[in-house]
Amino acid sequence: MSPSNIKVSLFVFGLTLISAAVLAQPKTDLGKREFENNCASCHGVSGKGNGVLVEFLKRSPPDLTLLAKKNNGILPMDRMYEVIEGRNVPSHGSRDMPIWGRDYRIKDGEYYGEMVYDPEALVRARILALLEYINRIQVR
Ligand code: HEC
Repeated sequence: MSPSNIKVSLFVFGLTLISAAVLAQPKTDLGKREFENNCASCHGVSGKGNGVLVEFLKRSPPDLTLLAKKNNGILPMDRMYEVIEGRNVPSHGSRDMPIWGRDYRIKDGEYYGEMVYDPEALVRARILALLEYINRIQVR
């Protein structure tokens, strides 16, 4: 083998190792991670409404695993999106459920600072990941 061939083989071998390392990473479950970080304190890790903060709330958080069942088997995606985003919920009256659209916008603003980014796309991506996760934990 000529020296340049050896270099090429080493390079390819290196690439193979790197891709193997990347592929071996555990899959990141964005929706699950987001749920466990932000929602489980009230809705419970299982989504059944038994989080640690429940005793401090005026209203008990609904069992999120029954949303489809209670809606003729169809997950009420639009309603859920609006409740989580919080934009179209009147600010008067009691609302124990945090307004995640606003919280996410503030958090992203602190993170990205002066960089150019699309705040709405980031909020949407997070909420859609959550909806996809909640869909997976539905009781069928
Ligand atoms: C501080 C406690 C708390 C946290 C944290 C919380 N929720 Fe809630 N959530 C509630 C309560 C209480 C309700 C019932 C409505 C109300 O009182 O505002 C609710 C209602 C909901 C509903 C409406 C269910 C329906 O019947 O339509 C959805 C969907 C939901 N929450 C999802 C989430 C998601 C997703 C997160 C995390 C991003 C989250 N919640 C975090 C307390 C919480």
